[in-house]
Amino acid sequence: MTADPPAAVIVLAAGGGTRMKSAKPKVLHTIGGRTLLGHVLNAVHGLDPEHLVVVVRHQRDLVAPHVGELDTAAIVADQDDVAGTGRATQCGLQRLPADLSGTVLVTYGDVPLQTTQTLGSLIAAHQAEGNAVTVLTAELNDPFGYGRVLRDAAGAVSAIVEEKDATPEQRAAHEVNSGIFAFDADFLRAALSRVGTENAAGEVYLTDVVGIAVQDGRRVGGLQASDVCQTEGVNTRAQLAALGRELNRRELERWMSEGVEVIDPATTWVDVTVQLAPDVTLKPGVQLHGATTVEAAAVIGPDTTLTDVTVGARAQVVRTHALGAVIGERSSVGPFAYLRPGTVLGTAGKIGTFVETKNADIAAGAKVPHLSYAGDATIGEGSNIGAGTIFANYDGVAKHATTVGARCSTGSNNTFVAPVEIGDGASTGAGTVVRRDVPPGALAISTGPQRHIDDWVQRKRPGTLAAAAATAATAAGAAGTAQAASEGADLPEEARPTGDQLTREEARG
Ligand code: UD1
Ligand code: CA
Repeated sequence: MTADPPAAVIVLAAGGGTRMKSAKPKVLHTIGGRTLLGHVLNAVHGLDPEHLVVVVRHQRDLVAPHVGELDTAAIVADQDDVAGTGRATQCGLQRLPADLSGTVLVTYGDVPLQTTQTLGSLIAAHQAEGNAVTVLTAELNDPFGYGRVLRDAAGAVSAIVEEKDATPEQRAAHEVNSGIFAFDADFLRAALSRVGTENAAGEVYLTDVVGIAVQDGRRVGGLQASDVCQTEGVNTRAQLAALGRELNRRELERWMSEGVEVIDPATTWVDVTVQLAPDVTLKPGVQLHGATTVEAAAVIGPDTTLTDVTVGARAQVVRTHALGAVIGERSSVGPFAYLRPGTVLGTAGKIGTFVETKNADIAAGAKVPHLSYAGDATIGEGSNIGAGTIFANYDGVAKHATTVGARCSTGSNNTFVAPVEIGDGASTGAGTVVRRDVPPGALAISTGPQRHIDDWVQRKRPGTLAAAAATAATAAGAAGTAQAASEGADLPEEARPTGDQLTREEARG
């Protein structure tokens, strides 16, 4: 059964959302990285309606601009002082051509899991049965708070009664109103003008239109949704969390069916806007947000949060927090890395443990392996940045850039005082503070030569454990040197330790 596109869809989003207890309008709360209203409009767009109206009132200054962001062609209708879903629908209709005919779908901005397919089947049933109104219903174990759908002896829908207005027998019904209706446009216009406010809430109920159709002997249909979650509305924070978890579960099932390995769906959260390739592995504790894209066979996690990040094929990203970054194929990130916007890591590159990057272009095969900050940095192909290097990009007033050429090898505990450039193939010694450009191939050293004040500890800290240790080591060292010298005497000339080598060993020690 296929449906003709509806003449109009009216999305109700004017309610106060008081049960959320939030400064933010209810329909702007998000699940799966998209607002409730965004989910609804997404489903509605699939129907290709001629007109799309969103009815707003509460916190209009926040909701109306959001409608514009979601759909520039959507009509924003303002609900007036009269309250209720019926009045809201009427205010929506008033913004449409007065002679609009055909099917009008009314849906709620706070029912986020509704799909194009389900809305389409409601419209198809409505059109096929020639109904004046067709309501999407659901059979709930706990129908509390919902309007109950009442059926006559023949099983036809006879009325919808709100929880507040229902008798105990009516409340016992478990079939509820989803709030999603297909209407004949002419019938809806005429019926709404006859709905009063004689109910517990004193509101104009859209649901009263059903009773009017029955009175007039018009056909009323009720399509029961097989997927109950699609009809569930968000009224409270707890419902927001529950539907958020359900949406995530569905998204992960979909990704798994497309070849993504999800080790622990219970602790993995993937926004509806994320793209994943087959053979991606998501380990426990992963959150993927926004425009994040992960290419084939990359491994993410455990415990990693990526927002608007592109990850190349076969990359490994472990215990990392990243946003606005590009991680190249076969590269390695983490554990415990923080990638800030503008980070671009090339193919087979590395951003290692306790490394923070920002606006950093790290070329293919280049590595920043340990305990470093690389901000406003360009690092050339195949270069290795020593442990504990700080790209000092901020002079207290402005930010400056550092460029490290290709195939450089910089020493541990360096500071690059930007703006500064290190030429291709250059090296820097341990502890170097690079303040001037380093020519290609040069070794930059800024630390003074090391000197020793012999026996300083024994003289200045006598009686300490340190002094005792030093005294013992000096005595043992003297004996050892004498022995090595006697052994070395037996070796051929070229195998004997030279003065140079001894100095290097001492320096390392
Ligand atoms: C409504 C239905 C109930 C149904 C339930 C499904 C009515 C009278 N009740 O109850 O039968 O089971 O939804 O979730 O229709 N809205 C407006 N203007 C208003 C009032 C509400 O635009 O004056 C919008 C809200 O923003 C929301 C939707 O209509 O998107 C539903 O309003 P809400 O107050 O949540 O209605 P429920 O009490 O849940
Ligand atoms: Ca509701």
